[in-house]
Amino acid sequence: MSEGEEFTAETRRRGAERRRLWSPRLRASAVSLGWLLAATPVLGGGDAQRGAMVFAMAGGCGCHTASEGPVGAGGRELPTPFGTFYGSNITPDRETGIGAWSDDEIVTAIREGRRRDGSIEAPVMPYYLYAGMSDTDVRDLVAYLRGLPPVARVVPPARVTLPLPRLAYRAWRWLYAPALTPPASAPDDPVARGRYWVDHVAICGDCHTPRNRLGAPDAALYLAGTDDGPDGKPVPNITPDKATGIGKWAENHYVGLLRAGRLPNFDNIQGLMVEVIEGVAGGAGYKDLPENELRSLAKYLKTVPPVRHEVGE
Ligand code: HEC
Repeated sequence: MSEGEEFTAETRRRGAERRRLWSPRLRASAVSLGWLLAATPVLGGGDAQRGAMVFAMAGGCGCHTASEGPVGAGGRELPTPFGTFYGSNITPDRETGIGAWSDDEIVTAIREGRRRDGSIEAPVMPYYLYAGMSDTDVRDLVAYLRGLPPVARVVPPARVTLPLPRLAYRAWRWLYAPALTPPASAPDDPVARGRYWVDHVAICGDCHTPRNRLGAPDAALYLAGTDDGPDGKPVPNITPDKATGIGKWAENHYVGLLRAGRLPNFDNIQGLMVEVIEGVAGGAGYKDLPENELRSLAKYLKTVPPVRHEVGE
């Protein structure tokens, strides 16, 4: 079996497991994922079935899905300190989505923040984190996106409060987007693999690392949480600091959270974390990942330098 087929089989098996346990809303999302996987052809360039796993690892690219769906059709409102943006339509509709873009153009938009017309994306799109996404993973992801049902939807233009926004995005990219050479494929060593997923695909730091006034991540507080997350609410410290982070968590606690949204004290997780675990409107999320990948995330997170940083309520 290829990795993609194994992922499909594993997802179906887990779907059956989940149907017994989960709420009707989750049940609907598990069923639609199964349907999407079954309907996804393997396209030239990347492996769309394996791309479904990359999509799940990317939290289902949830910024591009409005809460009522459809998956990838955009229109989700993304408030930021610099104005309100709307997730773009990344379905293969030729007029309003990315159906007319070449694979290379889509890859450049994801990893380099450069649109087809040459303009630079606003950093609300974390292209500077995806910059390290491997060649295989980004191609597989693109193949998966091409298999989404095309939706004709024009997304409202951003309402930006910055002067000269196009110039500002270009300057931001020059200042803060690191020059990374992405690897050919994800590393095999579990800790290195976990680090790669956390930093460049699952982008945990997009929410869990605080930002400076210009919206760039603060490296000294890597994964140490913030009082002011993307929706203005606190995001916890997930470094292994025993007092202010999650230094007491065992590997199974991470897996339980990422697979079922369950905290070690059996409370259910809330807020934006729910979206990346469950996916938005039936799209995939961390819950759909194979167990070995969830374990690689946990193994790496346990090696992150602990940072003492109290996050308020
Ligand atoms: C879209 C934003 C977002 C992303 C991306 C995200 N998280 Fe979270 N995470 C949150 C929020 C918000 C909470 C707090 C939820 C709550 O209040 O119940 C949270 C909670 C957690 C917790 C619970 C910590 C505690 O002390 O209770 C862990 C562990 C965690 N996230 C790990 C991760 C990992 C690992 C990743 C990447 C694989 C990740 N998160 C990606 C927003 C996010």
